[in-house]
Amino acid sequence: MTYSFPNDLATTARDIERALAALLTADALAGPGRPADRLTAAMRHGSLNGGKRLRPLLVRQAAAVFGVAPEATVPTGLAVELVHAYSLIHDDLPAMDDDDLRRGRPTVHKAYDDATAILAGDALLTLAFGLLAGETTHPDAAVRVRLVAELAAGAGAGGMVGGQMHDIEGETRFLTERAIADMHAMKTGALIRAAVRMGARLGGASDADLTHLTAYAEAAGRAFQLADDILDVTATPEAMGKQTGKDAGQGKQTIVSRIGVEAARRQLGEMIHDALSALLPFGDAADGLRATARFFAERDN
Ligand code: IPE
Ligand code: IPE
Ligand code: MG
Ligand code: MG
Ligand code: MG
Repeated sequence: MTYSFPNDLATTARDIERALAALLTADALAGPGRPADRLTAAMRHGSLNGGKRLRPLLVRQAAAVFGVAPEATVPTGLAVELVHAYSLIHDDLPAMDDDDLRRGRPTVHKAYDDATAILAGDALLTLAFGLLAGETTHPDAAVRVRLVAELAAGAGAGGMVGGQMHDIEGETRFLTERAIADMHAMKTGALIRAAVRMGARLGGASDADLTHLTAYAEAAGRAFQLADDILDVTATPEAMGKQTGKDAGQGKQTIVSRIGVEAARRQLGEMIHDALSALLPFGDAADGLRATARFFAERDN
């Protein structure tokens, strides 16, 4: 059967939406105590009904390179998506980007309040690691430990959170083009890199396979944030489901503000080329990853 990207994207979104809806209930979230209804509701608001679910898609596609069935990647994809959802909830807070609109709806702190948004993000992050510890993620505990380590590296101070700090520092300090690219690699690239590596780990990838797939993910991750910055200038809020034209207003330094949209688009093309080149050792089984890299450059939301 020939590979269909629209199918893969839609199926992943459906699977993730279902799994999230089941996971984010007071019963499923109960620990030594039961979560407050307000917390459960805010967690649901920040993660259900929207999002392209591209990180779970990457988990699925990287695992597919090694013949892993799509269903077997859902808990791992879910864990990465939970971290992504938390990162967006906190990114939108008044103390950070101060955004009112996300995925076409009010941001979590607008629908609830700042404290609830902070706690909902904290709870989603923690849930991600709890999920990875569970046997449904992978029968082999040694694999699960590797997944935990990958997600921690991608999400933490040397990854997404560290990149968010660079992003904020960049509002008041000059960044070279190189420093902007490094900030992209961390704030957005690191979680994309983790998604791909986690998918590969589910499939028992060799060190050599991991090296190639990491090169793919790093190029694709840079491309993804560059596209986001281009869309911030060129797209409408209706298409994006979030406010556009905000980066300049907030004094964010982006590649686009530095070199303009046309040159940024050329860079984007080069990054996608690099991502695709890294997949040369893999055959048809990497068609999903190829299609996603192309989508990163062509997307309009
Ligand atoms: C938006 O990510 C934030 C960035 C890292 C640029 P996505 O564009 O993947 O957001 P959703 O999940 O589809 O809303
Ligand atoms: C967000 O980058 C990156 C993370 C959430 C880690 P942006 O601030 O550019 O994302 P949007 O444009 O608000 O989605
Ligand atoms: Mg931001
Ligand atoms: Mg933002
Ligand atoms: Mg943006």
